[in-house]
Amino acid sequence: MPNKEETSSDKKLDSKEIMDRIAEASRQVVSGVEDEEVENWVTIYIMGRAYEVPADLTILTAMEYAGYKFVRGVGCRQGFCGACSTVYRKKGEYKLQTGMACQTRVEDEMYLVQIPFVPAEKPSYDLTEHEYDVNVLFEYYPELARCVSCNTCTKACPQDLEVMDYVQAAIKGDFKGLAEESFDCIQCGLCAIRCPSEIVQYNIAQLGRRLYGRYDSPEPEHLKKRLEEIEEGKFDKEMKEITKLSREELERMYAERKREED
Ligand code: FES
Repeated sequence: MPNKEETSSDKKLDSKEIMDRIAEASRQVVSGVEDEEVENWVTIYIMGRAYEVPADLTILTAMEYAGYKFVRGVGCRQGFCGACSTVYRKKGEYKLQTGMACQTRVEDEMYLVQIPFVPAEKPSYDLTEHEYDVNVLFEYYPELARCVSCNTCTKACPQDLEVMDYVQAAIKGDFKGLAEESFDCIQCGLCAIRCPSEIVQYNIAQLGRRLYGRYDSPEPEHLKKRLEEIEEGKFDKEMKEITKLSREELERMYAERKREED
């Protein structure tokens, strides 16, 4: 009589077998092609384990191809949300590099580690309780004064922002410069984890932009006009109809929406 343990469909799998099964199931979905059609392969190391993956995948898709399922550390997949920070090193190199997993292509002999988020200091504040003054930045982030202008933050930025320049603008109280130079920041935190002076550049910039937006940026005419229209009830009927739609209808409506011309 066959052993019940051997024939049971719910035989206990070890974690490696589970990973291999998930990887097998997700391969074609992730890469978009059958394995037989892939011409170039590279070897990457995820948490120390080697995987063969198609050469043209991003780090994010390569990890999914290998069987990893992201529950944190991923968001937009387009380089905008800053959720997918990654640290890697290439074989034979000393330097640890950083990047966004959804934007960085895998390379042969890459050693990878994902960062679920950067646990940097982020104090709470109430903008209405503060003056529009550079001292507010130093009050919440006194380490700002420690900047040694080494430019490491700029080199770490996956958005190619001039991070050191906006830090200098912050030190001088140039809120407009700080807000404009940091405008495209995606809050990934990679600048802060490389900073030898332990400055949290991206959170300082966020506070600076908020202060500038509240106290100094010009009032946008189009926003003023739209707020007036809302108050006059211009969109009330449309809103009523939209709130009655199902999720599917809303999704279809969003996909088919008329886009503003540039
Ligand atoms: S997933 Fe949003 S930036 Fe990579």
